Amino acid sequence: MSEKTFSIIKPDGVRQGDAGKILARIEKAGFKVLGLRMVQMTKRHAEGFYAVHKQRSFFGSLTDFMSSGPCIVMVLEKDNAIEDLRKLMGATDPANADEGTLRKAFASSVEANVIHGSDSPESASLEIPYFFTTLQIQG
Ligand code: RTP
Ligand code: MG
Repeated sequence: MSEKTFSIIKPDGVRQGDAGKILARIEKAGFKVLGLRMVQMTKRHAEGFYAVHKQRSFFGSLTDFMSSGPCIVMVLEKDNAIEDLRKLMGATDPANADEGTLRKAFASSVEANVIHGSDSPESASLEIPYFFTTLQIQG
């Protein structure tokens, strides 16, 4: 069934000049881009986005990193989009990511891991409207 997910090419991916390559891999995997723009989050935006991790030891560092430069935020659509994007991304720590995944190819650490993808339909339905209004999503 066709499904929408939310994704971010994180500041490291943009800084490294890998955004185009990452997007090409996403399109090649069959995702349709319904919305896309560049945004630099403030520390507060990043804290809101990752609020679920507020109690974790890495929250301060994660939100510094996510607000350290421009990101590319995207709404993507395909059958089974949420699970399929997570598979394409690979494990959170690139040291554990399988060959053929985006994190294996482009990520440098457990924090600087180049891409975010919603982890459930509930997350996608919160994350998409955090960045996109209805009018900014095609289709
Ligand atoms: P994401 O939410 O960004 O798609 O990543 P994920 O589901 O694979 O991983 P999650 O557990 O949700 O963690 C969110 C992000 O926090 C950073 N992180 N740092 N230092 C650490 O141990 C650590 N653990 C996680 C990563 O940037 C991770 O993607
Ligand atoms: Mg996550």
